[in-house]
Amino acid sequence: MKVFVAGATGALGRQLVPRLVARGHEIVGMTRSASKQDLVRSLGARPVVADALDPDAVAQAVASAEPEVIVHQLTALSGKMSMRDARNPERFSGAIMTNRLRTEATDHLLAAGRAVGARRFVAQSFGALRFARTGGPVQTEADSSDPDLRQAGLKAILYLEQAVTTIDWGEGLALRYGGFYGPGTGISLAPDAVMAGPIRKRRFPIVGGGGGVWSFIHIEDAAAATAVAVERGRPGIYNVVDDEPAPVREWLPVLAGALGAKPPRRVPRWLARLAAGEMATLMMTEARGASNEKAKRELGWQLRYPSWRQGFAQGLG
Ligand SMILES: NC(=O)c1ccc[n+]([C@@H]2O[C@H](COP(=O)([O-])OP(=O)(O)OC[C@H]3O[C@@H](n4cnc5c(N)ncnc54)[C@H](OP(=O)(O)O)[C@@H]3O)[C@@H](O)[C@H]2O)c1
Repeated sequence: MKVFVAGATGALGRQLVPRLVARGHEIVGMTRSASKQDLVRSLGARPVVADALDPDAVAQAVASAEPEVIVHQLTALSGKMSMRDARNPERFSGAIMTNRLRTEATDHLLAAGRAVGARRFVAQSFGALRFARTGGPVQTEADSSDPDLRQAGLKAILYLEQAVTTIDWGEGLALRYGGFYGPGTGISLAPDAVMAGPIRKRRFPIVGGGGGVWSFIHIEDAAAATAVAVERGRPGIYNVVDDEPAPVREWLPVLAGALGAKPPRRVPRWLARLAAGEMATLMMTEARGASNEKAKRELGWQLRYPSWRQGFAQGLG
């Protein structure tokens, strides 16, 4: 099939494009910068340069590709987030841009897809800190999101999911990825990995009882699920996470060890709230994890790293 990948040069896109090529698809990869065209070519795709926030440019880029499937992997979250940003995530420039990519750019890509007669649309969504802080530690796609947590970031994600999964001209799938780790992500052995840095410096503590449950996904497994979703699966939302959602108190010491860091410190909730704000504190103490049963059952997706235990030990890059 002809597949248009918006975000071909990103952490996920770089893993996804070669997989799609290997499965026999013809890929056009979008980037903002003329200078990244060679990277797109090296992945096996034809590059097209367009700014996702410019509707005419997106329409032209998509029209030139005549895709049957469009994949939306646009985000802008790779920058460093300071404590100040953590306290005010609504003002973090990467989050503001990502919200625009999840709303405006989604609209532009959907309009372009409809105009060229595409029949499938697969988009990146995100799972963490979305579920109501009631019920069990692991939740499904059917569980509701937390009404108290509907800040701009979650609103943009909910907008994307709704817009994509309700298209009437094709099949729309939104993939709620877990926290990425592995090569090219914020959790890797690279010296500039943004989340690994604070963990190495022991600035990423266990807060309170460390009961927040996180769901992780190795970037290769996320790409593998996405490649399958390009080809099959009913419209709807899929959690793309590993088999073992786990509380911070369990996974953080293991990750610190894998990064060669000393064990994390422990800080009380009140101190975390003061230093890093409410959202970060909730994430560390009350977040719920996600179940991958639907994605495994309906997409027939298999994981190379079914648990972060094995992934942190062998897959950090
Ligand atoms: N995805 C998440 O939900 C999430 C959440 C927390 C942390 N992280 C971490 O953040 C890192 C990923 O960073 P990232 O979000 O910046 O993704 P990324 O991996 O750098 O990819 C962003 C992609 O979006 C494209 N893009 C962005 N703005 C665009 C625009 N206006 N027009 C066209 N293309 C545009 C970029 O293309 P060009 O640059 O080629 O133009 C690039 O291909 C990883 O380390 C991950 O672990 C991700």
